[in-house]
Amino acid sequence: MTASTSRYGATAMALHWVLGAAIVAALCVGWYMTGLPFSPQRLKLYNWHKWAGVAILALSAVRLLWRLTHRPPALPAAVQAAMPRWQQVAHHGTHHALYALFLIVPLVGWAYSSAAGFPIVFLGLVQLPDFVPVNKELAEAIKPWHAVFAYALAVLVLLHVAAALKHQFIDRDGLIGRMWPGRG
Ligand code: HEM
Ligand code: HEM
Repeated sequence: MTASTSRYGATAMALHWVLGAAIVAALCVGWYMTGLPFSPQRLKLYNWHKWAGVAILALSAVRLLWRLTHRPPALPAAVQAAMPRWQQVAHHGTHHALYALFLIVPLVGWAYSSAAGFPIVFLGLVQLPDFVPVNKELAEAIKPWHAVFAYALAVLVLLHVAAALKHQFIDRDGLIGRMWPGRG
C-alpha cells in the first residue's frame, strides 16, 4: 500500500480515480438538475446530488489525511528539469486548490441546504446536522457561492486533465504512469 519511489501508492490511486469519477458526476448532475422544471425527477436528482456530495466530502477528508501522512514521490528529475518554473508552480498550485475545493464545494452546498431549510437525510436514512441556522436571506447569499466554487472546480479539473494529456501525448514523459494502476 505504500508508494514506490516513482509512483503514487495503491490507496492514493484508488482515491484519485473513485473521487475523480464521483466529482465529475456531481458537477454534471448539479449543472443538469438546476435547469429542470419542478418535478419528482428534479427532486430525486437534488437528493442524489446531495448524498453524492456528502460522500465526496467524507472521502475527501480521508484523502486529505492520507495525503498529509503519505508524501507522494517527487517528480522524476528529467520531468522536473523539462518544466519551466511557472509550470511547476501551476502543477503544485492546482493540486492544492483542488484539495481545498473538494472540501469547500460540498461544505458550502451543505450550508446552503441547511439555511434554505432542507436538512440532508443521507440516503433517506440518517438526518445530518445543520451547521447554519434556517434563514432565507442567508440561503440566498450562500447559493451563488456553491455555484461559483463548483464551476471553479470544473475549470481546474479541465486544466488538470489537459495538463495530464499534454504530458502523455506531447511531452511523452510517462507522467500518467505515476497515477495509473497496474503499470510500472
Ligand atoms: C463536490 C461536491 C459537489 C459538487 C461538485 C457540486 C456541484 C454543483 C453544481 C455544478 C451545481 C449547479 C450550480 C448552478 O448552476 O446553479 C450545484 C447545485 C446545487 N448543489 Fe451541489 N455540488 C456538490 C455538493 C453538494 C452538496 C454536499 C450539497 C448539499 C448537501 C449540494 C447542494 C446543491 C444544491 C441544493 C444545488 C442547487 C442550487 C440551486 O437550486 O441553484 N451540493 N452543485
Ligand atoms: C483523465 C483524467 C485524469 C488523469 C489522466 C489524471 C492524471 C493525474 C496524474 C498523472 C496525477 C499525478 C501528477 C503527478 O505525478 O504529480 C494526478 C494527480 C491528481 N489528480 Fe488527476 N487525473 C485525472 C482526473 C482527475 C480528476 C477528475 C480530478 C478531480 C476531480 C483529479 C484530481 C487530482 C489531484 C487532486 C491530484 C493530486 C494528487 C496528490 O498529489 O495527492 N484528477 N492526476
